[in-house]
Amino acid sequence: MRNQKYRVLVVGMGKRGMHHATTFHANPRFEVAGICDIDAARLEAAKGKLGNPQTSSDAARLAAAIKPDVFCFCTLPNLRVPMIEAAVISGAKLVAFEKPVALTSNEAFTMKRLLEGAGVKTVVSHQHRYGAHYQKIKQIAAGGALGRIHTVYGTATGWMTHMLSHMIDYARWYAGEPEAQWAMAQAAGRSKFADNHPSPDYIEGVVQFVGGIRGYFEAGAGAPDQPEVAKWWGKNRVGVQGTEGFAEVLTNGGWRAVSRRDGYQSGEGVMNYEADMPPYIQDMADWLDGKSVHPCNFAAAYKGFEIMAALQRSAANGGQVALPLTTPEDEQALLKAAIADRTVLVSDEVNKKEYGL
Ligand SMILES: NC(=O)c1ccc[n+]([C@@H]2O[C@H](COP(=O)([O-])OP(=O)(O)OC[C@H]3O[C@@H](n4cnc5c(N)ncnc54)[C@H](O)[C@@H]3O)[C@@H](O)[C@H]2O)c1
Repeated sequence: MRNQKYRVLVVGMGKRGMHHATTFHANPRFEVAGICDIDAARLEAAKGKLGNPQTSSDAARLAAAIKPDVFCFCTLPNLRVPMIEAAVISGAKLVAFEKPVALTSNEAFTMKRLLEGAGVKTVVSHQHRYGAHYQKIKQIAAGGALGRIHTVYGTATGWMTHMLSHMIDYARWYAGEPEAQWAMAQAAGRSKFADNHPSPDYIEGVVQFVGGIRGYFEAGAGAPDQPEVAKWWGKNRVGVQGTEGFAEVLTNGGWRAVSRRDGYQSGEGVMNYEADMPPYIQDMADWLDGKSVHPCNFAAAYKGFEIMAALQRSAANGGQVALPLTTPEDEQALLKAAIADRTVLVSDEVNKKEYGL
C-alpha cells in the first residue's frame, strides 16, 4: 500500500546500526518500532534519538513481539544465520543487513535457502553505490562512452572481510552485473585472522566474467596505496576499462575518466554516510511499495559473495574455482589451514600501522 508507514526493528546499535536507525527514523515512510543490542548502555543511549521504541537484548524475542515490516541487523560479521532465522520467523517483508553477506559459504547457502524459501525481499549494505562520484562512473560506463567493456578492477588497503565485498560489488555494477565463470587468487599473512573481520592480511585475484570481461581484485596490506587520498579507509580504487576509454573512482578521492568520445573528465567526491544513507533507505520503501527493486538487492550481493568465496577457496587450495558455487565450504577454516606463518609484505609504509608492523 502506498504511503503506508513501515515498522522497523534495528538490531545492533553500533556505528552502522545507528546510521540505519537514525535514517529510518528521519524518513516519514518508516517508524522505528524496536531496537536491540546486547550492550544495555548503547540501547539506552540510542532510544531517545529514535522516538523511544521498544528495546530488548534478544532480537528474536523482540521481532516476535513487534512483528516488524523491516528487520534490519547491523551486527558484526560473525552473526548472520540466527538473525535471518529470527527475521523470517517474525514474518518481516524485508530484511536489510550489512556486508559482507557471510564469512563462509556454509552460512551463505543456509541464508539464501531461508530467504528465498520465505520469499522475503533482502537488501545488503553496499551503499557506496549512492555516492555521486561512484554514480558518475556507472553513468559513463552504461552510457557507452567506454565502448566494449573488457576490464574491471577494485583495490583496497583495508582487509578482505571489511573491503573486498565493496570492491567486487561496485566493479560488477560497472560491468553491467555479468555472471562470473571462475576465480583464482593468492593470499598472505595471518595477523587479521584474530580481527572481528577475520581475514588474511592480503588477498589478490582474477575473475573471469561472461563476455570476456576480466576482473582484478586486491584487498589488504599488499594492495597499492592511493597517495592522492589522505583517509586510510578511503584508499580504494574501482575502475572500468573498455575499447574506447577508461573510468575510475577513488572512495575518498573523486573520479576521472578518459574516452575517445568525451575526452578527459574528472570530478570531486568522498564517501559520505550522511549523503548515501537517505536514498539507500528510501529505496527500501520503494521496493516495499512495489515500485522498483532495490539496487543493493541480495541477488546481486550474493553473486559478489560467491566470487569472494571462490577467491578464498583458490587462495587456500590453489587453481581455478568454477562459479557459481555448487557445494558449501568453510572458507575461513580453509584459509587458516593453508596460509603460511610469514609476515605480510606491504605495498607502502602507510599500510604498516593498520597491520601492526
Ligand atoms: N557498509 C559500510 O559502509 C560499512 C561500514 C562499516 C561497517 N560495516 C559493517 O557493519 C557491520 C557492523 O559494523 P559496526 O562498525 O557497526 O560494528 P559495531 O561493533 O559498532 O556494532 C555492532 C553492534 O552489534 C551489537 N551486537 C553484537 N551481538 C549482538 C546480538 N546478539 N544482538 C544484538 N546486538 C548485538 C554490539 O553490541 C554492537 O553494538 C559489520 O558487518 C561491518 O562490516 C559496513
